[in-house]
Amino acid sequence: MDHFIYRNGALFAEDVAVADIAAQVGTPFYLYSTATFERHFRLFDEALEGVDHLVCYAMKAASNQAILKTLAALGAGMDVVSGGEYARAKAAGVPGDRIVFSGVGKTVDEIETALTGGIRQFNVESEPEMEAINAVALRLGVVAPITIRVNPDVDAKTHAKIATGKSENKFGIPISRAREVYAHAARLEGLKVVGIDVHIGSQLTQLEPFRLAYEKVAELTVQLRADGHEITRLDLGGGLGIPYTRSNEAPPLPVEYGAMIKDTLGHLGCEIEIEPGRLIAGNAGILVSKVIYVKQGEDRQFMIVDAAMNDLIRPAMYEAHHDIIAVTEPQAGTEQAAYDIVGPVCETGDTFAKSRVLPPVEAGDLIAFRSAGAYGAVMASEYNSRPLIPEVLVKGGDYAVIRKRPSVEDMINRDQLPEWFD
Ligand code: LLP
Repeated sequence: MDHFIYRNGALFAEDVAVADIAAQVGTPFYLYSTATFERHFRLFDEALEGVDHLVCYAMKAASNQAILKTLAALGAGMDVVSGGEYARAKAAGVPGDRIVFSGVGKTVDEIETALTGGIRQFNVESEPEMEAINAVALRLGVVAPITIRVNPDVDAKTHAKIATGKSENKFGIPISRAREVYAHAARLEGLKVVGIDVHIGSQLTQLEPFRLAYEKVAELTVQLRADGHEITRLDLGGGLGIPYTRSNEAPPLPVEYGAMIKDTLGHLGCEIEIEPGRLIAGNAGILVSKVIYVKQGEDRQFMIVDAAMNDLIRPAMYEAHHDIIAVTEPQAGTEQAAYDIVGPVCETGDTFAKSRVLPPVEAGDLIAFRSAGAYGAVMASEYNSRPLIPEVLVKGGDYAVIRKRPSVEDMINRDQLPEWFD
């Protein structure tokens, strides 16, 4: 079910015409669909029906307060990776006992904030970090619930920059050392070991790597229990991929993923946590942009649009593909043309797509980048002094700007001049 579809020749987001929003808000902007967020969250929640579980949305994918509140209202937990994300989750009304804290470099300040404000568990990634959490907990007179993230040395078969489960990656502790590290944790009085954590990468398009990793976690659960640890909770990370093109083979569905989880881990009687980000947010958002110029190069046509790599960095950073469509539906049988679709930033890397075949466009036409809801707005910058672009959320026939476009003055006024310029 897609909530960004053409109706009578115009692209709609749920029940609102995208062009109407563009006329009101100006381009470029991110546009999200509430119904899609809700549907995707429920797919995961239902996939784990029958086992005690919590779906902790990996809010690094898209962390606007309105998005977090939408998901929190359905009972979502949150996976956070910084003090900033923790504060955002709390501000959206998520209780501490539904927040898990991941990441390799939690600082003492972040640990203290979470222990004071309430935390479901820290997913610990190293022994020094374990010692740090223990020290803060003892100082505050509390006990910190932890899992330890193990690195199962499994090839996630995804882009190298987003694979995390191989031994050469910075994440987790080698699974071969797990028993030793759990024994260490058990000796620290400020910690309570509650389970095991694993996350092997993002945009996985097959179940097999997950299965291999989860089988290793199942084996480790048995071993650790035999060593005397109480393993009651398994955090299985995120990573299930999404279809970025309509033509390619679709990745497995949440229901298939859920069945595999039950199959590999169900017999252990543990509470299951998962941390999906991309699958919940990715296809819940588009980036709407306007064509500034069509420029004829020597052997190609450039479509120069008003969005750039600073607004959506995924193509430049991961060679990522985003489907690009016209906001006004092309008439059937329109002859298509090939474009290199580029932004105005002064780098050749500011290229969204090469030789992309589309119906002809003119300056002023609106286009939309699909599947831009995850790792889009959150990875944006103000490079080239381009202010961050707005975020808009649709719900049925309503829409609201959920982050407004800062003015150029706002941007300049964040700089401060030293007194020697007075
Ligand atoms: N849990 C942990 C510990 C993670 O590191 C991540 C993603 C997730 C959960 C969520 O994974 P997901 O379900 O979204 O695949 N910026 C990149 C993706 C980076 C993913 C980082 N970690 C991109 O645009 O493709």
